[in-house]
Amino acid sequence: MLPLSGALVPEPTADGSMTLFSTDFGEWFHSREGAYAEAITTYVEATDLATLAQAPTLALLDVCYGLGYNTAAALSTITQVNPHCQVHLMALELDPRVPRQAVDANLINGWPTAIQTCLAELATAGQAHRPWLQATLLWGDARQRIQSLEQSGFQADVIFFDPFSPPHCPELWTVEFIQQVARCLKPSGKLVTYSCAAAARTAFQLAGLSIGPVKAAGRRWPGTLAQINSEGLAPLSLQAQEHLLTRAAVPYRDLTLADRAETIRQRRQQEQMTSPLEPTSRWRQRWLPPQKKDPLAKTEPIRSSPLS
Ligand SMILES: C[S@@+](CC[C@H](N)C(=O)[O-])C[C@H]1O[C@@H](n2cnc3c(N)ncnc32)[C@H](O)[C@@H]1O
Repeated sequence: MLPLSGALVPEPTADGSMTLFSTDFGEWFHSREGAYAEAITTYVEATDLATLAQAPTLALLDVCYGLGYNTAAALSTITQVNPHCQVHLMALELDPRVPRQAVDANLINGWPTAIQTCLAELATAGQAHRPWLQATLLWGDARQRIQSLEQSGFQADVIFFDPFSPPHCPELWTVEFIQQVARCLKPSGKLVTYSCAAAARTAFQLAGLSIGPVKAAGRRWPGTLAQINSEGLAPLSLQAQEHLLTRAAVPYRDLTLADRAETIRQRRQQEQMTSPLEPTSRWRQRWLPPQKKDPLAKTEPIRSSPLS
């Protein structure tokens, strides 16, 4: 996917905040039901960050920083509930144009002014330091950056995991990448993502994490909360459990953490063709009423159907 040269097209979402469309990845950056709402509900509320921020310190990892909305929602919440909390934030992002465009086009002006200043510094200098904050934005392919982050011993209380959807960005949903990310999670930590794709959930499980559903803003399906310790996780529905027994659950693989997206997609397709798992179409017939078959495929407003 390097170098990125495609357009980043601004578009308003239903809550009045702006998102972008990436022609490189063929996807919107956020739910079109509300970009700010997604950051608040799917990432900050789903991890109960307001409670975690009562601690004297908090370490956050923002995988796929993008416009910085998830970071902004987190920092706004933390400073509101506990201004004394010492925050260590690490963020990973491939395309420096994205956070810069968010700042230059005033897409971040709905966040508190003090937080906007942090985002502006991150977008330009890759760092923001305050008495309460040590924040670093690491540029480049997250598959490489995560390795040095893991080797540095960084351990997160909370990980926001927000790549484009698995079909559009398979390189960030592989077992091998997610294993590296999971190594940066504290034993008591929480990872959250908007996706409930079976391939993603299987990858989290193969990386040693327990998973549960979690409310995701502006979507018809839940997101996923993943933890080393299963305590406090809501159980998966029977429908979701059975989804993990279908070919949709064949995970993406990238042994060297360097394969091209197309190679990773094709490798999975071949494995699916010879898989002894139930074809996903049969699961769909059981769980999705005929008139509503795969309702997410065409009408889903932003990212691809998680059912494939
Ligand atoms: C869905 S957007 C993230 C939105 C973001 N969390 C926000 O709040 O605005 C996905 C982001 O992943 C980035 N990305 C894509 N491939 C990447 C890679 N290999 N490494 C790091 N970032 C990547 C894209 O540039 C994009 O900014």
